[in-house]
Amino acid sequence: MTETEFLAPTVRPEEDELERSLRPRRLDEFVGQERVKEQLAIALEATRTRGEALDHLLLIGPPGLGKTSLAFIVREELGVGLRSAAGPALERKGDVAAILTGLGERDILFIDEIHRLNRSVEEILYPALEDFRLDIIVGQGPAARTLTLDLPPFTLIGATTRTGLLTTPLRDRFGMTFRLEHYEPEELGRIVHRSAQILDVEIAEDAATEISRRSRGTPRIANRILRRVRDVAEVRHEGAITTEIAREALDLMEIDERGLERTDRALLRAVVEKFEGGPVGLSTLAVSLGEEPDTIEDVYEPYLLQLGFLQRTPRGRIVTKRGREHIGAAADGSSARLF
Ligand SMILES: Nc1ncnc2c1ncn2[C@@H]1O[C@H](COP(=O)(O)OP(=O)(O)OP(=O)(O)O)[C@@H](O)[C@H]1O
Ligand SMILES: [Mg+2]
Repeated sequence: MTETEFLAPTVRPEEDELERSLRPRRLDEFVGQERVKEQLAIALEATRTRGEALDHLLLIGPPGLGKTSLAFIVREELGVGLRSAAGPALERKGDVAAILTGLGERDILFIDEIHRLNRSVEEILYPALEDFRLDIIVGQGPAARTLTLDLPPFTLIGATTRTGLLTTPLRDRFGMTFRLEHYEPEELGRIVHRSAQILDVEIAEDAATEISRRSRGTPRIANRILRRVRDVAEVRHEGAITTEIAREALDLMEIDERGLERTDRALLRAVVEKFEGGPVGLSTLAVSLGEEPDTIEDVYEPYLLQLGFLQRTPRGRIVTKRGREHIGAAADGSSARLF
């Protein structure tokens, strides 16, 4: 079994050793997403029985919900090799050709941020995905010829935070598409308990509930909070995590009752205070916060939209009455006009 981190690793800086140790390895360790797991389990079983490569698989969902984890779980469950690459790092056809020709029978090619592949790279993928064939043009002008290479049957697992940006021809080549949803607090509670066990720290039931409630439905955030809470428990207390300690750490991290962090509140406040509640365009908002528009759209907005604190309209972003109330700006006179 081989695993190669190819080109730019898909592992982000914040995804350290610890995060990897908390990653579920097998399908039955992966909490929640029951329908996804059920369908995947059937596909895995059928694939194993037939000895074929698994159908190409597209994983869609906001950051931190388990896309990369699932890709590695599939690898583990099938006992095959995996090569991974980040979409934007695959710049030339040659990069892709090199990876594809290096794949073994039934291996997995994991492409993260697959919505960011460039057109020429996408085009070389089409025949590869459909017929396990690689068309290479050699020579130039009248002497140019197309060489066709046979590839071993393999599985592409693509991960993306944005479906809208995937081209139709690419999307159509995936046999299975799974959309990951935010987790219920109860599921996050199970994840927190499991992680606490791995980190070898004792945690009270209510403390796990408190962390889950403030994790915005996202396992990565739940684990991140747990690690900070563990620090506070170890440095300031006896080590075990009680509800009081969890609250103390959450306050220290400036994570509020609804799980909003400082940047989330800054975003709401910017719309209310600088743009009179909106509507304000994404790029204008991004500039005023000193953030990338992509980060705002992928990281901050989904949860604010889900809470009903923010709305996307054709003319831009608007902070709702609820959003104003949350940041304590409800009394703002200028709001009367809009709401
Ligand atoms: N269903 C789950 N059960 C247990 N832990 C999970 C689950 N999903 C995610 N995690 C935890 O959350 C962390 C982040 O998950 P992962 O890296 O798979 O997310 P992702 O969807 O690939 O995020 P990104 O879009 O940022 O790449 C994992 O290291 C793992 O510890
Ligand atoms: Mg990932």
